[in-house]
Amino acid sequence: MQRSRSFTEAGHPLTFKNNPPSPFFMKPLNIGMIGYGFMGRAHSNAFRKVNNFFPLQHQVVLKAACGRDGAKTAAFANTWGYQSVETDWKALIAREDIDVIDIAAPNNVHAEIAIAAAKAGKMILCEKPLGMNGAEALTMVKAIEKAKVANMVWYNYRRIPAVTLAKQLIDEGKLGKIFHYRAKFLQDWTINADVPQGGPGTWRLDVSVAGSGVTGDLLAHCIDTAMWLNGSIDTVTGMTETFVKERAHALTGKKQKVGIDDASAFLARFSNGSLATFESTRYARGHKAQYTLEINGENGSIAWDLHDLHRLQYFDHRDGGLTRGWRSIHVTDGDQPYMKNWWVPGLAIGYEHSFVHQVADFIAGLDSGKPAAPSFREGLATDYVTDAVLKSAKTGRWEKVKKI
Ligand SMILES: NC(=O)c1ccc[n+]([C@@H]2O[C@H](COP(=O)([O-])OP(=O)(O)OC[C@H]3O[C@@H](n4cnc5c(N)ncnc54)[C@H](O)[C@@H]3O)[C@@H](O)[C@H]2O)c1
Repeated sequence: MQRSRSFTEAGHPLTFKNNPPSPFFMKPLNIGMIGYGFMGRAHSNAFRKVNNFFPLQHQVVLKAACGRDGAKTAAFANTWGYQSVETDWKALIAREDIDVIDIAAPNNVHAEIAIAAAKAGKMILCEKPLGMNGAEALTMVKAIEKAKVANMVWYNYRRIPAVTLAKQLIDEGKLGKIFHYRAKFLQDWTINADVPQGGPGTWRLDVSVAGSGVTGDLLAHCIDTAMWLNGSIDTVTGMTETFVKERAHALTGKKQKVGIDDASAFLARFSNGSLATFESTRYARGHKAQYTLEINGENGSIAWDLHDLHRLQYFDHRDGGLTRGWRSIHVTDGDQPYMKNWWVPGLAIGYEHSFVHQVADFIAGLDSGKPAAPSFREGLATDYVTDAVLKSAKTGRWEKVKKI
């Protein structure tokens, strides 16, 4: 059987010319998943699909699911096809048959799990934000770099084809010198003062579990994409607000002071001289998950909206005057990022596929020896920006962002 294949066709690393790799010849990649909530499901779905759509040299094996509640974890394992169940992440890490630890648990346990997993020589995929703050994230970076283990942070929005296409256009110089970056991430689910803090789902409102509010939760995504598209951020000045000052704790029923930021907005200066505005809130009535970004350069502009995620808006000032205008690009063609691996041109994919692409890139990085991004170190860079925003909101001054 002929097994030759090329990973470079059309300049895209994830295409093959001849036969797809056969599972018979593939190396197993044994996953140990921690957490069975929203991201536990999103990642599991990606792990299950990746080998069906992307030609890779590793075959994902859903080896074990881990959660503190044995019955719930077993039900999750059954739904998604995990072979076994653990109720203590330390036991999961101690297992020799696990290659990758995937951290899909709340922010306050990322560091402890990642550091222990690195010491055990496991590859690590970690949800965002990397740490509760920059100092904690730095301890994680040191641990994985000392252990030299493959690592990645789940900043999945980079892998939405329209956003990846934006990166391609910017890198090709289509926009020219960049002047402005504008990003927003708007939600409306915490306006009701009866929403509790702490516990399943609402741990995001408990500062001791989340680290911060919308700054580390939503703006972290905007910051990661922004630095990927437009380079590093030097200085920021921000403001935050906590509109509901006290909320009952889901686990105790007792009213407690709210320590997270409900809304956060900041101005930033990028190292390339461009100016930026970022805004996030969970109090924008009518908006469920509206992540938007716009970039303005000397030759053109691009804009993207998560609510219409398969379209990229593009304006090229060098177009002929009569027909010059914003183009709405339906990013579904085979030569556009990732799309060759899905259906036929014209058929859109969605949110879940960004996670499939991230797993595909992670495995392609293992196959080729060229690690996929974002690494823990890049995750640290985002935590340094959120630290500076939160500090500025307290001091009322412009704050410098720590360099990684
Ligand atoms: N990339 C994204 O777009 C995105 C979206 C949502 C959440 N997140 C991140 O993913 C992580 C999880 O968020 P979620 O929305 O899935 O939360 P969730 O509340 O839906 O699920 C969290 C899971 O972690 C489990 N858990 C908590 N503590 C644990 C422990 N000590 N040991 C084992 N399991 C434990 C919970 O039982 C639950 O199964 C967070 O870091 C969050 O910021 C990322």
